[in-house]
Amino acid sequence: MRRLLDFGLLALPLVFAQAAVAVDEASQEAFNNNCRTCHSWKKGDNRLGPSLHGVVGRKAGSAEGFGFSQSLQKSGVTWDEDSLDRFIANPEGLIPNNNMKPFTGIADAGTRKKIIDFLKSNPD
Ligand code: HEC
Repeated sequence: MRRLLDFGLLALPLVFAQAAVAVDEASQEAFNNNCRTCHSWKKGDNRLGPSLHGVVGRKAGSAEGFGFSQSLQKSGVTWDEDSLDRFIANPEGLIPNNNMKPFTGIADAGTRKKIIDFLKSNPD
């Protein structure tokens, strides 16, 4: 009995560690599947779309070295969980005439949340 208990206590942190990794992988996968064609999360790595490094808390259209549309620059939006969620759900709904095309939005709230979790984790 005592040995069983010891084993249980030892195994507990392992279980938690594995759960954390699983969440990260699912979030990264959601980003890779939906956004990575156009966006990198590496700092300064602008591609078809701007680098999304540090995007949470940033003013829309302010990433250096990327030619944003006027619409995005003048939107007055600062990216937070709520504005990101609305933008990813329906970019034209939040900021009309933006250049994030032909991306039309992700209907599934769970997928959007995973992507936002990934952006919030702000990997290098
Ligand atoms: C087809 C290419 C493409 C895809 C796919 C795409 N984007 Fe974009 N994204 C862009 C472009 C281009 C812009 C710049 C838009 C503008 O200037 O109006 C942009 C802008 C953004 C911005 C504004 C950044 C800033 O600094 O203001 C965010 C946030 C963003 N994208 C998030 C995402 C996320 C999250 C996904 C995946 C769900 C995604 N994008 C998928 C091309 C894309």
